Amino acid sequence: ILPNSATIIEVGPRDGLQNEAKVVSTEHKLQFIESLQQAGVQEMELTSFVSPKWVPQMADAKDIMANVEKSGRQLVLTPNEKGINAALESGAQAVAVFVGVSNTFNKKNINKTTNESMEALKPLILQLKQDGVFVRACISTAFHCPFEGAIKPEDTLSLCRQFVDWGADELSVADTIGMATPVESYQLFSQLKEAFPDVLITAHFHDTRKMALANIFAALQAGVDRFDSSAGGLGGCPFAPGATGNVATEDVVNMLHQMGIETGIDLDRLCEAVQKIEPYVSNPVDTGMYRLYKNR
Ligand code: HMG
Ligand code: MG
Repeated sequence: ILPNSATIIEVGPRDGLQNEAKVVSTEHKLQFIESLQQAGVQEMELTSFVSPKWVPQMADAKDIMANVEKSGRQLVLTPNEKGINAALESGAQAVAVFVGVSNTFNKKNINKTTNESMEALKPLILQLKQDGVFVRACISTAFHCPFEGAIKPEDTLSLCRQFVDWGADELSVADTIGMATPVESYQLFSQLKEAFPDVLITAHFHDTRKMALANIFAALQAGVDRFDSSAGGLGGCPFAPGATGNVATEDVVNMLHQMGIETGIDLDRLCEAVQKIEPYVSNPVDTGMYRLYKNR
């Protein structure tokens, strides 16, 4: 039984642009964000407050927040107390934290083991919830790790359990390097939906092996109706070798609409947003719906 509507969480301005070889200017990022809002995107990761030494592409997080049009749920990604404080000072009302199920990946991404990250995050999340801030927990390497291989579903579930116990509003569960299959997607998301009925469950698929749309369909069948995606299929984590972009928002929106599932997003205007950012990213955008849009 499929839902009548689904929510897209656009991550292009963050996951998409954090991995770009050349840094995109603040002005072009802001134009991209604005055109995504105009296409009807209601939830978006705008930027991340991370170390500019680690991810120079996101060094302008403060300027993005100061100049962005306020609309819908605007998320910013933060790894630690410094990032959370900077995000709140910038006016963010929704914060995304991130941690890897795999220790090796977490070390490479955040320079801490998974447990060290969780110990540091616990008091921060409890405080954020006391202050009424929306908390999204991004779970990296939930299926596979580029260093450790297959991840046990019970390890992903127990990490998620901790975030839920601390009051997180949303779990965004990620196939960081695009290795999950539809069977794994269906199984893990079924377990998550059953274990955490009161929390928003979101699926975050990278499309490295072109299985993301199939994985989304499998997650839909497991009851998931929230999907992270990136306009133009931009994206990837600089610390996850072999990871390419997120599944393309235009292809997800098209698939959902064709199946009678509403998203509130206008496909043509979404492609206009892709067209705005395309000149400033390193590779030509080559997603199914964008190609059709340009050739028509
Ligand atoms: P570290 O070097 O261990 O941290 O890095 P540190 O505390 O020693 O700080 C190093 C320097 O960074 C210091 O500056 C800090 O002040 C500064 P210095 O004194 O040397 O001038 N610093 C910061 N600056 C701005 N904002 C901050 C911040 N924190 C410290 N928040 C750290 C640890 C976590 C900072 C670093 O590892 C880091 O920034 N990592 C971020 C990596 C990242 O952004 N990865 C991509 C996002 S996650 C992702 O893409 C996956 C996801 O999409 C889901 C999926 O697909 O799996 C979400
Ligand atoms: Mg990602």
